[in-house]
Amino acid sequence: MNDAPTRFFTAVRSRRSTRQYLTKPATSELIQKVLEDAQCTPSNCNTQPWMVHIVSGKAQRALAQTLLLAEELGQQKPDFSFDVSDFYGVYAERHHSMASTRNNAAGISREDVEARREDMLRNLSFYGAPHVALLFMPSFGDNVRTAGDIGMYAQTFLLSLVANGLAGIPQTILGFYADTIRRKLGISDEFKLLFGISFGYADHDAPDQQIDVGRATISDSVVFHS
Ligand SMILES: Cc1cc2nc3c(=O)[nH]c(=O)nc-3n(C[C@H](O)[C@H](O)[C@H](O)COP(=O)(O)O)c2cc1C
Repeated sequence: MNDAPTRFFTAVRSRRSTRQYLTKPATSELIQKVLEDAQCTPSNCNTQPWMVHIVSGKAQRALAQTLLLAEELGQQKPDFSFDVSDFYGVYAERHHSMASTRNNAAGISREDVEARREDMLRNLSFYGAPHVALLFMPSFGDNVRTAGDIGMYAQTFLLSLVANGLAGIPQTILGFYADTIRRKLGISDEFKLLFGISFGYADHDAPDQQIDVGRATISDSVVFHS
């Protein structure tokens, strides 16, 4: 019997952005499996523009320290802009709803600026995940098509993590330190950092760190023409 549709359904429906991990690393064989799945991602003209750096162990701990220092020194230098105040209407509403669901689950009140900042800083130590994949790309034209390809790669990677018993979280915030990361890892300026994916084994003893933030209905997102 072919059980592939069930496995696909389970992986898609159970995936959650995970913000607490066990320290146990994934084996390099398992990471290789995920990378092989992700490599099957389609792309514009089959350019396969992803250039991925996987950082683990000592190198990852050193990177976390460097990121926290860069944050302290105000050295944010993203390759691509990102400002949540650009969201409008329903998009701003969805952002606020997601943030309040998350904060409620974690017991962080909206007024507690310090706790919210602490929570934000957890991004820079990869939410305790033992690995991070940093998704770099070459820069062509206005970058939109290439970024689309990287997004597709990321989703294949995230679903493969789940199918292999792992969990992950995409993190735009890591891209705010593009220059710092390039310098620390010796990466050429030719490659721009879109975002990172921290990953490992989810800590299921922290259920508030893997929550369902909900989705709009299909009728909010899809228009049928016939
Ligand atoms: C490209 C991308 C970047 C993201 N960046 C961050 C981030 O920097 N920090 C974070 O905590 N979550 C980040 N997220 C996670 C989103 O908040 C999350 O995907 C969304 O709320 C839906 O929740 P779910 O992934 O659990 O379904 C990012 C997600 C995507 C797709």
